[in-house]
Amino acid sequence: MRTHHCNEIRSEHIDTTVTLIGWVNSTRDHGGVIFIDLRDREGLTQVVFRPDDSAEAAQLSHSLRDEDVVQITGRVSARLQTDEVDTTNSDLLTGEVEVVASELKIVNKAEVLPFQLDKELSNEDLRLKYRYLDLRRSRLASNLKQRHILTKATRDYLSDAGFLEIETPILSKATPEGARDFLVPSRINPGKFYALPQAPQQYKQMLMVAGVERYFQIAKCFRDEDLRADRQPEFTQIDMELSFVDQDDVIGIVENMLATMFSKVRQVEVPTPFERLTWHDAMNRYGSDKPERRIGMELIDLSEDLKDCEFRVFSGVIANGGVVKAINAKGFADISTGQIDKLTKLAQEAGAKGLAYIQAREEDRKTWRSPFVKRMSDAEIEALRTKLNIEPGDLILFAADQWEPACDVLGRIRMEVCALKNLLEGNDALDFLWVTEFPLLAYDEESGRHVAVHHPFTRPLKEDEEKLKKGEYDGLRAQAYDVVLNGHELGGGSIRIHEAELQSAMFRALGISEEEAAEEFAHILDAFKFGAPPHGGIALGLDRLVMLACREESIREVIAFPKNNKGAELMTSSPAGATPIALRDLRIKSTYVEKPKTE
Ligand code: AMO
Ligand code: AMP
Repeated sequence: MRTHHCNEIRSEHIDTTVTLIGWVNSTRDHGGVIFIDLRDREGLTQVVFRPDDSAEAAQLSHSLRDEDVVQITGRVSARLQTDEVDTTNSDLLTGEVEVVASELKIVNKAEVLPFQLDKELSNEDLRLKYRYLDLRRSRLASNLKQRHILTKATRDYLSDAGFLEIETPILSKATPEGARDFLVPSRINPGKFYALPQAPQQYKQMLMVAGVERYFQIAKCFRDEDLRADRQPEFTQIDMELSFVDQDDVIGIVENMLATMFSKVRQVEVPTPFERLTWHDAMNRYGSDKPERRIGMELIDLSEDLKDCEFRVFSGVIANGGVVKAINAKGFADISTGQIDKLTKLAQEAGAKGLAYIQAREEDRKTWRSPFVKRMSDAEIEALRTKLNIEPGDLILFAADQWEPACDVLGRIRMEVCALKNLLEGNDALDFLWVTEFPLLAYDEESGRHVAVHHPFTRPLKEDEEKLKKGEYDGLRAQAYDVVLNGHELGGGSIRIHEAELQSAMFRALGISEEEAAEEFAHILDAFKFGAPPHGGIALGLDRLVMLACREESIREVIAFPKNNKGAELMTSSPAGATPIALRDLRIKSTYVEKPKTE
């Protein structure tokens, strides 16, 4: 139906005849001569209808509306360019030429669209309802293309590195990754449910026991959790697992893969190896296990300097084994009271008792605004000045608590300051790093049990193995690693347990009884008895990777048909009700009654 794509026509085609097909991107009427920009997947070409060249096509062109599908045949000609007038367009690859139409065929008319494609639209639900129109915009069309390029680069890279792409079941059994499962009732096994996989974790480990050695999958995963900009209930992982490897092997492969990918989509050279930070250092310095390091503003520990401070909030916490940490929000002393209140509220929501601050407006401490600075000695102020590098105009924010909550709160405040001050505007740098040595277990106050920080198949550090077996659960570290890009967790993985005995010890730590373990995880414990190789792996969030590569702020912009923040896919209106017959077949009693609609 075409001789060229719309982005292909150049000066070298002048005086040749071409046929193009696509959508009317825009029309302009210049005194009876109609100009259109014709668009297809690849780009735009200007087409002109002149009555002198073809009266019939010119006549018909008056009826063209945006988004009509048309087929055009015509002669390529140079755009007018003299000393007085220049009609070329350097923004377009095809900007030096135009097609003078001799034939026009209207292939399919379009009604007036529910929104204009060339304007940003804030109503996201409307965009999602008409997603097939939204995807015609160049930004989203380009995102889909980048996603394809990244996915293909993954397949190429991993295939070349000896990985086999293997599919694992979607209708499967629950595997603990920390979220709620989506359940699918089984019609032929009444009362039984499949769980959609939160990740192919157990299957890929079984593939290692099966001798596959290197597996990968572009895997769909499902987690019933609250949505955020970088979270969807269904998302895609680049999932991999390897036998006979240690942590450095996995890290090396992922680094090279990411460097290859970013050279393809961003044409940049990503230096490898990436820096590594232990989880403890990441928390201690940035208050986050996925630190955004491009903004500086590290957390400074002041516990030693403030332990005798007259301000009891500080000295009391330190006496109790806690810490006082602070950040210097440079040049932010003019923060408004409203903004301080907002930050304090954020700190409180994160579990802090408050958010102490100093607005260091001028050099002289007497000019500093703060609820407590009067109660600080000169020596204490000097320590603050030196350690925090306080200069006139700075804002200092403090957290006093036990180490981990203090780091966590200040880490959140740090990112909020970054947002308030737009510190990352225009920053296009890529900061990749690894966070290693995560804690193996976390104590869950609510259930009074330990939970796995990564998942129950994660191996402790060699030196902590015996402690796990002996039931000494404090401070155990895992051979787990996350790869972080610009403050986003891109991926996470671990070296696994491959011995039944150690796996049982881990289940014990998690308060899973032997009977429960035998019932839920018999396949794992059995498999580990038949010569399981040492193995480990990782999964990268493909959606997050594409989002960051495309400089988007939400993964919804890089997924063809995403769900909105209420988990609904608005184009097809899912989720939807089910007929009574379908429910009967599944032995599901509908107890949910929709409220009658009032007038
Ligand atoms: P984890 O749970 O850390 O590890 O997930 C790996 C990566 O998947 C992405 N991700 C998500 N992306 C979008 N929406 C979500 N709801 C979502 N949840 C996770 C993140 C994350 O880093 N089985 C292990 C991996 C392993 O140990 O090999 C796992 O799933 O980018
Ligand atoms: P107060 O003495 O309770 O009026 O608190 C004085 C200041 O210290 C206020 O700005 C509080 O928000 C702040 N504050 C109180 N508790 C803490 C804490 N644990 N960490 C940091 N700041 C706090």
